[in-house]
Amino acid sequence: AKLLVLHGPNLNLLGEREPGIYGRTSLAAIDRALKLDAESHGHTLDSMQSNAEHELIDRLHAARTDGTAFLIINPAGFTHTSVALRDAIAAVDLPFIEVHLSNPHAREPFRKHSYFSDVAMGVIAGFGADSYRFAMDAALIWLDKRAA
Ligand code: DQA
Repeated sequence: AKLLVLHGPNLNLLGEREPGIYGRTSLAAIDRALKLDAESHGHTLDSMQSNAEHELIDRLHAARTDGTAFLIINPAGFTHTSVALRDAIAAVDLPFIEVHLSNPHAREPFRKHSYFSDVAMGVIAGFGADSYRFAMDAALIWLDKRAA
């Protein structure tokens, strides 16, 4: 199947940005590992990062017709602000996992609310770059079960 990973704003700075919170692993390294993982299970993976809400929305719209079967998304700051990005996911009607490197519940109160969690299949947060790995594991298990 075809998987899509979307990364929201500021995640292009991963590895350099607040490493005490977000770790030292770069986004390129995360994407590389996810791609290898997906491909070793016979899937394909496309990943994209944008600092622009409309670019993430446009990519989701493209996913309506490009055969994408599953979405892993870290909406980053848009987690707490973007009705529009949430609506885009609903429009595409894709099963998805919400991912965060940090645990937003252990941080400032404004990070406690997510516009995505109630419509996500599940949420994985607080494990640094490994959060993405765990999300991929969950996606692979789900895709296997669906195929069986
Ligand atoms: C984040 C958590 C968000 O609150 C924050 O705005 C981010 C990153 C995370 O991965 O921990 O940019 O999504």
